[in-house]
Amino acid sequence: MKTNLPLTRRVFIRTAAVSSLALGWLGSGRTPWCFASESSKPAILGGTPVHSGGWTKWPQWREEWEPEVLKVLRSGRWFRNSDKHVEEFEQGYAQLLGVKRCLATASGTTALMVSLHVADVDAGDEVIVSPYTFIASYNAILSRMALPVFPDTDPATLTVDPASIESRMTERTRAIMPVHIFGMPCEMDSINAIARSHRLPVVEDACQAWLAEYKGRKCGTIGDLGCFSFQESKHIPSGEGGAITSMSEDLMDKCNSYHNCGRACGTYKGEGFFTRGSNYRMTQVQAVMLTQQFDKLLKQTAVRQANADYLSANLGKIPGITAVRLPENSRAVWHLYPYRYDAAQFNGLSRDKFAKAMAAEGIPCGGVYHEQYNDGLMDEAIGSRGFKRLWSAERLKAYRDSFRELKGNKQVCETTVAMTQNMLLGDRSDMDQILEAIQRIHAHSAEVAKAA
Ligand SMILES: Cc1ncc(COP(=O)(O)O)c(C=O)c1O
Repeated sequence: MKTNLPLTRRVFIRTAAVSSLALGWLGSGRTPWCFASESSKPAILGGTPVHSGGWTKWPQWREEWEPEVLKVLRSGRWFRNSDKHVEEFEQGYAQLLGVKRCLATASGTTALMVSLHVADVDAGDEVIVSPYTFIASYNAILSRMALPVFPDTDPATLTVDPASIESRMTERTRAIMPVHIFGMPCEMDSINAIARSHRLPVVEDACQAWLAEYKGRKCGTIGDLGCFSFQESKHIPSGEGGAITSMSEDLMDKCNSYHNCGRACGTYKGEGFFTRGSNYRMTQVQAVMLTQQFDKLLKQTAVRQANADYLSANLGKIPGITAVRLPENSRAVWHLYPYRYDAAQFNGLSRDKFAKAMAAEGIPCGGVYHEQYNDGLMDEAIGSRGFKRLWSAERLKAYRDSFRELKGNKQVCETTVAMTQNMLLGDRSDMDQILEAIQRIHAHSAEVAKAA
């Protein structure tokens, strides 16, 4: 895969976590970062690293969770319909989010695939989706033999720019799929208003946004259907796993049916095999792992938010660094903590070299998503027999050419730097050291640019 990233996101998360095994705080008596000596030499130039490199390990396991998991393993009742744990998880997660219904799935990707099916996205349809996202968002749409159509990204928020949605619509547009990337809520009022005026369903990709809030409502409960991931790197992980949430009983009965081989659910029923379906079910083991982590998710979310607030309030004091803007009255949960980096204000020090200098300070960070639509997968999809049957050559060419218009997204891909969520589980002195390291590199950027 073509990539300009030093590390893929998941490898990056693992690396940050593994580098933290020897957790060691430097204590609270340190000089606050804003008064720290800017003249101390960056570690990449031979100075002493700002941070010891000990970051909270991820994923986390607690021995106290083991009896419940063992009970399930020993029971031999592992399949969704043989016991009650999956349903208990669904009820608990729905309660946590303040939503009527939740359906557990095998993964976030399968949650999206089921939701898109129920939203009536069919072969030859088009789905509006945020371009700045993990590739699974594109893949879920492609798996329906539908075209992911990209509005631009707002560089201030890193989420989809609602103002660029309508210009991308065609008579084939069937759904809108905003992505709350890094757990930062999209501007949902505008997105829902556009969807309503075109009578389109909204499927929220909330795979990184457990407990994120927009105007008093949790992400994943604001559109018609919301999708979550519990993959290993996530804030509430079970190796693999996912969920769909909704306020609509009707949509959820249909999701349940489709994810369970087309079996009847609630009011969605008929004679024999009356509807299509597949197997996208969660197992009992995943469910007991997840339910036991609710409390930890709540507590750690508050810690990440407090630390992110502190970083966001202070990052802007460093020339060339800009914190991300959130929608009014919203709370992000920070699956990654991103900021924008302006190399010009760092004497031309490239983002990759900046990340290398930060790593030397004991603070891993890096770019995240690149312009993935320029990679082979989109050409492979639109060059396939199926897609060529479903769209005219003119439409596919115009579609491919339209990627060049995504100027905001290109800028975001090229200038965003992010740290992993486990780093936000540190204490205030860790946050001070992150700020101190950036400031130190800024102060010495001319020498670092020459040396790195
Ligand atoms: C934004 C986004 N969408 C979808 C997915 C897919 O979730 P999963 O890996 O559980 O299939 C992920 C997972 O990383 C994601 O981050």
